[in-house]
Amino acid sequence: MAGDHVRVRAPGRVNLIGDHTDHTGGLVLPAAIDLETVVEGQRGGAEVVLRSDGDPEVAVVPLAVADPAEVAPGWARYVAGVVVEARPPEGFTGTVTTTLPLGGGLSSSAALEVALVLSLRPDLGDALSVARLGQRAEHRATGVPCGIMDQLASAGGRAGHALLIDCHTLAVEPVPLPDDLDVVVVDSGQARRLEGSPYAERAAQCRAAEAVIGPLREAPPGTEVAIADPVVRARARHVLGENARVRAAATALRGRDHALLGALLRESHASLRDDFAVSTPTLDALVGRLAAAPGVWGARLTGAGFGGCVVAVAERGALDEWGPETWWRVRPSDGATVEVR
Ligand code: GLA
Repeated sequence: MAGDHVRVRAPGRVNLIGDHTDHTGGLVLPAAIDLETVVEGQRGGAEVVLRSDGDPEVAVVPLAVADPAEVAPGWARYVAGVVVEARPPEGFTGTVTTTLPLGGGLSSSAALEVALVLSLRPDLGDALSVARLGQRAEHRATGVPCGIMDQLASAGGRAGHALLIDCHTLAVEPVPLPDDLDVVVVDSGQARRLEGSPYAERAAQCRAAEAVIGPLREAPPGTEVAIADPVVRARARHVLGENARVRAAATALRGRDHALLGALLRESHASLRDDFAVSTPTLDALVGRLAAAPGVWGARLTGAGFGGCVVAVAERGALDEWGPETWWRVRPSDGATVEVR
């Protein structure tokens, strides 16, 4: 109701394994984390007015906004994307604060979208509806044809668990994370934006593969040999292998087989580097250093690639002295929450 004080927190996510599988309805294994975005303020009026701790420029978005991609400053496009998709009955005035690195591969944009959806449309209720709306807002704001993983992890996270998500059926199965395992996220320092990146081209190559061998989510590894184009074949090989690795990683977590989990992470990174071509020399060097550190089971780039963050799984405390990069030992956290006073 207008005038009520609303506070929404939405976490970022780290993806343990399963990258570039969600846009063909495959499997992913992310966890919501204890780095988050908070939107706080009051509903009312005919505009959404937000100040951010990440940008001096205020976002002022009328409820009747037509094209989110035209809105300035850049971060206000996400606000406009949510306004267009959520069609809130009234505006909102407040602040956005975050502990997430912006554009660092920990889903700062999905956390913002999810926090905004719940601020403007608290009636939406279930995590999947919130996530779907946030995903459509991202498409509108950036034109990047992202999958559902980031928004669903942010909206539907479970403390102490990763989420095994089937991005076709949208079934979500929480998988407990063993308490003797550290999940460490290291920032490569290489900034990246998905807009203007080859993300859309990779998604199109996956569709080209599906035109030859059918839905990638149903195809067993090896089926890709039927694809004549070597680039498209390599993209498909990554996706088929990655779906199988996600399944194996969920089993390894349940069985506390950390060595197997680590090996799967290392294979995933190699596949993203060699077959899907979304790694960078900076990410490769960082993954190499982490994977060689004592007590580390495995490491890989996390998220879309092209820069951003790397995730490592390690024995308790093994990376406590890591440097020189910024790093976080992340705790798998609950999804977004809403408080109204
Ligand atoms: C970005 C997208 C996700 C997913 C990952 C790669 O984070 O938003 O939907 O495709 O890249 O796994």
